[in-house]
Parts: sequence; C-alpha cells; structure tokens
Amino acid sequence: MKVQSASGLLMNGSIDPGLVPQRILCSGSKMPAIGLGTFGSDHVSPVEVADAVESAAAVGYRHFDCASVYGNEHEIGYALQRVLTGGIKREQLWITSKLWNDKHSENDVILSCKQSLSDLRLNYLDLYLVHWPFPNFHPPGCDVTSRSKDARPYIHAEFMKTWRKMEELVDQGLVRHIGTSNMTIPKLRLVLRDARIKPAVNEMELHPHFQQPELFEFVRSNGLVPVGYSPIGSPGRPERDRTPEDTTPTQDPVIVKIANRLKVHPAVVCIKWAVQRGQVPIPFSTKRDHYLGNLEGVVSEPLTDDEMHSISTIDRNCRLIKGQVFLWKEGQSWEELWDVNGEITPP
Ligand SMILES: NC(=O)c1ccc[n+]([C@@H]2O[C@H](COP(=O)([O-])OP(=O)(O)OC[C@H]3O[C@@H](n4cnc5c(N)ncnc54)[C@H](OP(=O)(O)O)[C@@H]3O)[C@@H](O)[C@H]2O)c1
Repeated sequence: MKVQSASGLLMNGSIDPGLVPQRILCSGSKMPAIGLGTFGSDHVSPVEVADAVESAAAVGYRHFDCASVYGNEHEIGYALQRVLTGGIKREQLWITSKLWNDKHSENDVILSCKQSLSDLRLNYLDLYLVHWPFPNFHPPGCDVTSRSKDARPYIHAEFMKTWRKMEELVDQGLVRHIGTSNMTIPKLRLVLRDARIKPAVNEMELHPHFQQPELFEFVRSNGLVPVGYSPIGSPGRPERDRTPEDTTPTQDPVIVKIANRLKVHPAVVCIKWAVQRGQVPIPFSTKRDHYLGNLEGVVSEPLTDDEMHSISTIDRNCRLIKGQVFLWKEGQSWEELWDVNGEITPP
C-alpha cells in the first residue's frame, strides 16, 4: 500500500509519478508536466548531473531534458541504464535531446541524433529539438563576445532542410516527436506552414519575470506544448548570460509572499505557477532537497486564483538567456535574434 502525505510525499521520501500532471501532445502521447534540466551551466560536472538524474528518477521524476551541447549525455546514459535496470520501464520515461547548432547540415542531423542515442544508451528519444534556429557554433564555456566565423541569420530555406532530416528521424523510428527551441512567432509561422511533421513542442525561456504571453498563446493555440526553460530564473547561468539589468524572479515580493505562506523556497512557487499556467518547466538542480521540493510542489496544494493573478502582473519582460554569442553581424544587439518587431530580422 502507498502511504502518502498531504504534500504527495510517499513514506519512502519519493513522489508517486502517477500524481504528476501530464500534458497531451498533438500525437496523443503524454509528457510529464515537469522535467529535470541537465545543463550544468559550465560549472557542474557531468558526473554530478548524471547522479542527479539517477536520484531524481528515484524520487519520482520521469522526464529529463538533455542536449548534446551540455557535454554530459555519455554520463547520463549510464545513469539512465541504471534507472532502467532498476525496474523503471523505458516507456515510463520521457527523454528529450537536442541538435546542436553546428550539426544543422543535412549530413549531420541523423548522425548527431544517433550519437545522442548512443551516448544516452537508448534506442529512441521521446523528443528531439533543434536547439537554436541558427547554425552558429560557440565553444563551451566561451565569453559573451565569442562569435563563430560563419555565423548567419535565420534562413528559412536552410532551416527547412534541417527540419526535413528531423522528420526523417521520426520516419525511421529513432525519435517519437520533434520540436523547436528558441523560436519566435514569425519563424514558427513559416515552420508550421511548411512542415510535414509539425513541431510537438517549442522550448522557450519562461519564468515569472519573462512570461512571453504572445508567444505562449501562439504556441498553445497552434497545438504545441510550451516547455519552459530557466523556470527559476537560472541563478546558476554562465557569466556570458548576465547583464546588470537582469532581475531575479525568486526575489520578487509577490513570489516571496506566496513562498512564505506555503513555507517553501520561492523557486517552488515559480514551478507551481509554471505547471498551473500550462507550460512544462524543466528546472535544473543537483540537490535532492531542491529537485524533490520542486516535484512535490506540482502535486501539492495549488496556488490560489488570486496568487496566479498576482504573478501574472509581475512580468518584467526580462529575458535572461539573450543568446548574444549567436549574433551574425558586428554591432548588432541581442534583440535582433528575437524578432522583436514581429518580423524575421533581415540578414
Ligand atoms: N533550450 C534551451 O536553449 C535551453 C536554455 C537554457 C536552459 N535549458 C534547459 O532548462 C534547464 C533549466 O534551466 P536553467 O538551468 O537555466 O535554470 P533554472 O532551472 O531556472 O535554475 C536552476 C538553478 O536553480 C537552483 N534551484 C533549483 N531548484 C531549487 C530549489 N527548489 N530551491 C533553491 N534553488 C533551486 C539550482 O541550484 P541547485 O543545483 O543548487 O539546486 C540551479 O542553480 C536547463 O538545465 C536545460 O535543461 C534549455
């Protein structure tokens, strides 16, 4: 018999994955409404992240957000193997990986996915994303001024060549769903128009200080699930992603007041808000108390309507992951990556 507290915690200190809400994708498949992020942000080692994946599965996580560029899929693969041999079935897991920017060319997409599969020790992925819509490479751990010498803007015809290969991955059964990441409305409009297999999700930055209401609605109204990265405001993000104007959602008085009422860390309020709003947050943590607390947050007492409303009023339009390293021309500002005028920024 499962004995469970009001917060959803079982006697063995884990959460019953059956209590975690699921999002239904356009295919009819279900995706757990919270996942564990795995980007060690240039300072958490691959082994530490892999250990967190294994322990997070033990406390009830079933969804893991991976990427080849995080440099830890090989270690995570061993962790996943231990999870699977420990009794959790492959079909109970949701594993995402992502195609890195230097692998957009037609010859690279399938090979790159196969490499992730081999590193992760899996024979299919639940979701494979094009990590960024630009084929612009930057070396791991670089600073904000770093640019690849062949950096270029979004060119739709080129993106669609990459996307055709993504579709082929679905045809070959290597991947169950494909999706986009770091897209804007004008870019997504073109992809939705031209895709044979449409993106199942768009992964995008989403937290109380960056709610992206227009893109969020666009994504949902077109049948895609919004997956929200940096849901806590990415306090451990690399130096290249910090500017003096950045704000901190976990220090917002509205979030802190709710956290005090619930006696939880403000991070947990960000996660509860995200799930209740309808996005799929993928918080990163390597600390058991933290990732367990985040999971507990989504199965315990929900935020009130008033609290949900008050969080909706604290959006600061504060993008934290600006992507400067993907700019393609001298003297450009990072806003040009994000089509802020509603049109794709011309080359
Ligand atoms: N598609 C993309 O382009 C993209 C871009 C960025 C990120 N992502 C994905 O999104 C994931 C999450 O984003 P992120 O890593 O930038 O930031 P995040 O999840 O907003 O923040 C992670 C930080 O929050 C802390 N934290 C987590 N839970 C906490 C809790 N309950 N109490 C206190 N502190 C807590 C963690 O520290 P501790 O380890 O100390 O708990 C960690 O430093 C990434 O790992 C990656 O998988 C995708």
